[in-house]
Amino acid sequence: MSDENLAEIRNEKAKKVQHPKGKLTAYERLELLLDEGSFTEIDQHVASEENPEGEAVVTGTGTIHGRPVYVFSEDFSVMGGSLGEVVAKKILKIMDNALEARAPIIGIKDSGGARIQEGISSLYGYAQIFKKNVEASGKVPQISIVVGPSAGGAVYSPALTDFIFQVQEIGQLYVTGPAVVKTVTGEDVTFEELGGVEAHGTKSGVSHQVCESEKQAFEEVRYLMSFLPQSSSQKPPVFITEDESTRMVESLDSFVPENRNQPYDMEKIISDIVDDGEHYPIQSNYAANIITSFARLNGNTVGIIANQPMELAGVLDIKASEKAARFVRFCDAFNVPLLTMVDVPGFLPGVEQEHGGIIRSGAKLLYAYSEATVPRVCVVVRKAYGGAYIVMDSIGLGADKLFAWPSGEIAVMGAEGAVDIIHRRELAAVEDKESHKAKLVEEYNEKFSNPDIAAQLGLIDNIIKPSETRKIIIDSFKDLINKGELGDKHGNIPL
Ligand code: HXC
Repeated sequence: MSDENLAEIRNEKAKKVQHPKGKLTAYERLELLLDEGSFTEIDQHVASEENPEGEAVVTGTGTIHGRPVYVFSEDFSVMGGSLGEVVAKKILKIMDNALEARAPIIGIKDSGGARIQEGISSLYGYAQIFKKNVEASGKVPQISIVVGPSAGGAVYSPALTDFIFQVQEIGQLYVTGPAVVKTVTGEDVTFEELGGVEAHGTKSGVSHQVCESEKQAFEEVRYLMSFLPQSSSQKPPVFITEDESTRMVESLDSFVPENRNQPYDMEKIISDIVDDGEHYPIQSNYAANIITSFARLNGNTVGIIANQPMELAGVLDIKASEKAARFVRFCDAFNVPLLTMVDVPGFLPGVEQEHGGIIRSGAKLLYAYSEATVPRVCVVVRKAYGGAYIVMDSIGLGADKLFAWPSGEIAVMGAEGAVDIIHRRELAAVEDKESHKAKLVEEYNEKFSNPDIAAQLGLIDNIIKPSETRKIIIDSFKDLINKGELGDKHGNIPL
């Protein structure tokens, strides 16, 4: 039978299983993901005794924006997309091919996990895939799109990839399903509550993007790919833009509120600065106190890490530190320059954070920045206090260029806390504590809550006008264009 007919017969059969569940078939998904007509299937005739017409995954190559990608699409209509020996072999082969060709790997996930009938050999198959995910990590981008159950062993391959896209209502990830949960812990929980988009897009941070439909997920993956290189040996693609690199943004000169404690939307600053006002936040519903986003400056991809004063005053906590650290490491592995925008009052204090390991999590972000060899430009917008100042790409950690707006406050700590410590005795002795403290806070702010001392010490390169930010950071990245070497640097371990 010709390859085309075989695919068609399989696809027609799969439609009967998938469509009533509100899901697309493995082939339909590949059509939406890839450039029109670009999919070439391999191993189509590979079958098994139980499934002579074809096994539970479709594999092959195609293009996205004209660039090759290696894909596998799990077929739930064949034994629930479960993974046995043959399925594992097909996936491993396409991953090996991608590594040889140094091209991205995209997996479409719709599977009930290890094929129970095959017992331990299916576990061996998973183990080999996990190992291959790790081998590919940091070498070629790996993306998972969860459009069905991803149960048991099926969760860990996505978790080892760089980005997980999850589609609401149909995409669910869980190590053990609700029935097992009920037996072990007595908890009553639905599939959606346990492993749906709310669970993983907002609470656990396992998923990077949540989408309303499969179509949206495939469109977004294509968009994400436009920011990424094919492998660690290449730079990301450059897009011609009509947005002038010298464009001034006058409105930014009066954007930061006079009241130091008033929040503002950092997203607005980012949109104002980047090409065509367009950026693509990653994990936007998780640890929203830090923004991690892809954008372009003068046509070149940058990875943006920015504190968000609208959420928890932009403080660094465990989740935000780890979210940012993994993003920094991905960008470093794939030659994406880093732009850091700082407005951070510090690390979040508290027993919960300390006992939860904020020391270890903050260290992950320190580690990520310190080892990053891509071009790094940092802009202090407002607060940069204490340890959080250090960790948000300070000169000491190796930032190449560091600028501050006039509203920048680079200090060991915020005025209130500082006054309490250095004037403790004096405050205890006076009658009208409140007004005396207010005076001391004002004095402290005048002396320390500005970028002047840091500028005098050479710990920032310049104090810049906010309206000139776009031009200045584009010029800085131009100066750094030849910094760093292409090639494999490190993996992107899940943090
Ligand atoms: C073999 C499987 C299967 C599996 C599903 N099927 N999962 N066959 N091994 N793991 C088969 C079903 O028997 C059924 O076959 C068909 O796929 C469709 O499944 P349904 O249950 O009818 O579909 P649905 O109602 O949509 O439910 C999907 C599901 C459910 C939620 C995924 O099938 C399920 O709970 N499966 C088991 C999930 C699980 O616990 N996996 C863990 C495996 S152990 P028929 O012939 O009836 O159409 C594992 C260990 C690794 O993965 C651990 C590493 C950390």
